[in-house]
Amino acid sequence: MMMTRTVYVNGQYVPENEATISIFDRGFTFADGVYEVTSVIKGGLVDFDGHMARLKRSLRELSIALPHSIEESKNAHHQLVTLTKLDEGVIYLQISRGASDRDFPFPDGAMPTMIMFTQEKSLIDAPAAKTGIKVISVEDIRWARRDIKSVGLLAPVLAKQAAKEAGCQDAWLYQDGYVTEGSSNNAYIVTEDDVIVTRQLSNDILHGITRHAVLDLAREKGMTIEERPFTIDEALNAKEAFVTSASTFVYPVIEIDQQSIGNGTPGPVATRLRELYIENALANLS
Ligand code: PDD
Repeated sequence: MMMTRTVYVNGQYVPENEATISIFDRGFTFADGVYEVTSVIKGGLVDFDGHMARLKRSLRELSIALPHSIEESKNAHHQLVTLTKLDEGVIYLQISRGASDRDFPFPDGAMPTMIMFTQEKSLIDAPAAKTGIKVISVEDIRWARRDIKSVGLLAPVLAKQAAKEAGCQDAWLYQDGYVTEGSSNNAYIVTEDDVIVTRQLSNDILHGITRHAVLDLAREKGMTIEERPFTIDEALNAKEAFVTSASTFVYPVIEIDQQSIGNGTPGPVATRLRELYIENALANLS
């Protein structure tokens, strides 16, 4: 018998084939909404508070009301984990401005739409963590407010498709010659002097929740970090490269534009940071 997944729509838990939202929903017509992806390991939530803090910030920047308190959202996350028996994977949450006849300015009285669903995914033993991933570089054609986790994701869709067609797993985006971030993750290199370099926070990149945790752990262990832009050329000559996100934790990058990074295998810094991140996540599940 086919199992149908239970999903969340505006306070209701329903089978996915019975979940509906309006065709006038502004998330659908204008990409007028934001999202979060929270990972689940051993049935517990990873970095939940950080994801909710960023969700509130994204909503505030767009003047969309938070439809439920963070406490209610947390309960809903737990309820979905229970109903779907999710042990390891991710929970996707999206809030849009709601449904209204199509018109650009904010509508009066629209109620935000909130949906959530789960996706099973191997996170701790993800094969890509052991093999590393190959990326291509692609020009960053996104809008100027990448700090808002908007559902307008056509640029990363095109970048990931180009990567796939090139036989790679992801794309690193660059602007004015400098890497901004990965298409759905933050990007790092490790220099000859073992300095971890990643672009500084600004409106040019998403303020990754995993980035924050990984940099804290690296600092705790006495590693040196420089938050500054770097070029693809610098990355090609780096000892190591890697990415971080909720759905990957830390993945080593072993190739950029068909050129090997370091010796072309996952490096010790990325591998160590991944171990530290997972250990810390397991000890702090909510
Ligand atoms: N992406 N940068 C971009 C552009 C992202 O889309 C993401 C996350 C990150 C990493 O942020 P965090 O560590 O908070 O997950 C950085 C999610 C996982 C996604 O779109 O599926």
